[in-house]
Amino acid sequence: QEQLAAAETNSKETDFPLSFEEWEKKAASLMQAGGYGYASSGAGREETARRNEEAFGKWAIVPRMLSDVSHADLSVTLFGHTYKRPFLLAPIGMQILAHPEGELASAKAAAACHVPFVLSTVASHSIEEVAAAAPSGSKWFQLYWSNNEEVSCSMAERAEKAGYEAIVLTVDTVRTGFRETDIRSQFSPLSQGFGKANYESDPAFMKALDRHDETSVVAAILENMQTLSLHWKHIAKLKERTRLPILLKGILHPEDARLAVEHGVDGLIVSNHGGRQLDGVIAAIDALPAVSEAVQKKVPVLFDSGIRRGIDAVKALALGADAVLIGRPFLYGLASHGQQGVEQVIENFAREIEISLSLCGIANLAQIDKLKMVRD
Ligand code: FNR
Repeated sequence: QEQLAAAETNSKETDFPLSFEEWEKKAASLMQAGGYGYASSGAGREETARRNEEAFGKWAIVPRMLSDVSHADLSVTLFGHTYKRPFLLAPIGMQILAHPEGELASAKAAAACHVPFVLSTVASHSIEEVAAAAPSGSKWFQLYWSNNEEVSCSMAERAEKAGYEAIVLTVDTVRTGFRETDIRSQFSPLSQGFGKANYESDPAFMKALDRHDETSVVAAILENMQTLSLHWKHIAKLKERTRLPILLKGILHPEDARLAVEHGVDGLIVSNHGGRQLDGVIAAIDALPAVSEAVQKKVPVLFDSGIRRGIDAVKALALGADAVLIGRPFLYGLASHGQQGVEQVIENFAREIEISLSLCGIANLAQIDKLKMVRD
């Protein structure tokens, strides 16, 4: 009977790719070359982008047996909200490059599958448009600090007003990494006018623009995004203007993790931006144990970069992450099959995570400390 059920499920799913590699191939065949290059590549010689994935293969789980996993509950509670599944969709800018419905499709898919959606500052649809498209779903807002502080605070206030549940301040992008693929293909989505929605709809941004009417929106966005002076002191400014929990995304060093907690940050995301920013840095999964250790459970630690399948998510959870974010896998689902593709990717992740945790002897994420992780 079990075999029959499995065969039935498989036949229903044959229309969709299954593995990450299949989704990626499908996305590559459908996206424009510039957009696909932008999405898939990393910075420099792509050492870190590669290492992110390979490092998962070096970590191995030592599972537990006879633990009665018949009543599984994989929900996580973060900042007072309980989420059914231990993963979120990572902030990815300009999703219109993957599919005409862009973030509206992925936010709707996330809502339908009970997974929080993190909207990028440089999205193709605004904070309010996404909230209206997926009113029932949990949404977080990813903030790129702007060198006009009023713009940063105004975006955070808009997110709070529109019902978003957290602010993710990305700290590894004070400027864009050296991305050879994009340089070669002369692909520069911001300069080409993608990713403007949250700026054009922002009163503080538009007010500043009025004062220099010669400046185009695109030039002003590019200028706003050069935030080389970003510093710990800016956290206090943001905290003054929003009651939402603030997470820092892009932390790799345990000392930065300790400083973040000291500065009153509510959560961290261990990430190297999918290898797109600084090439030659540590695989994100290898940075996780030390950060988790430094934080001592004072605030939640989330993780992304290099997760390609459910078992990678399980390894990150076992190495100290409270939840994980999925980046390129859902983007390729979006490129391949729009909202349905994202839903399919999410459901496959959820299923593999559930199966894997049962086989590890874990019915509840609070017990994941029971697992031993070894590294080659
Ligand atoms: C990103 N990422 C990202 N991060 C962020 O904070 N703001 C953003 O606007 C974007 N935009 C973006 C675009 C594209 C095309 C990609 C692939 C990634 C980084 C993202 O949130 C996440 O850190 C990585 O995607 C995680 O790595 P994987 O899962 O893609 O390997």
